[in-house]
Amino acid sequence: STPPPPPPPKSSPAPSSGGGGGSFSGDGTFYAPGLNACGTVDNNDSMIAAIGHAAFDSFPGYSGGNPNNNPICNKQVTAHYQGKSVSVRITDRCGGCDIATSLDFSPKAFAMLADPSVGRIHGVTWSYD
Ligand SMILES: *[C@@H]1O[C@H](CO)[C@@H](O)[C@H](O)[C@H]1NC(C)=O
Repeated sequence: STPPPPPPPKSSPAPSSGGGGGSFSGDGTFYAPGLNACGTVDNNDSMIAAIGHAAFDSFPGYSGGNPNNNPICNKQVTAHYQGKSVSVRITDRCGGCDIATSLDFSPKAFAMLADPSVGRIHGVTWSYD
């Protein structure tokens, strides 16, 4: 008899691998930025976001240690939500983000996607520029 067919290919790698044109999805929130994990200083008007800690910590080329050296630092991403979009740099690590692909925006960047009174938005899609 013929052998059984091979199993289907495994699903694509975890989004935390980052880079390379994939599109990711997570929650969007905002916070008051300051000294960030990348070693620079942002404020409420900076066009930046922090990314979920699991994605930050596992970004290709980052082997732990000084987060200032994480190659994710200053990567530009464009995020979309309900027909709106905003382009931000990743400068921080979101320690409170349960979802690796969630983005914690500056207040100014968040306001370009949704009313700040909402606080948390679900289904933000984004990709690296
Ligand atoms: C920055 O934004 C946060 C969150 O909206 C707010 O609580 C804080 O007052 C703002 N800080 C300044 C200096 O505007």
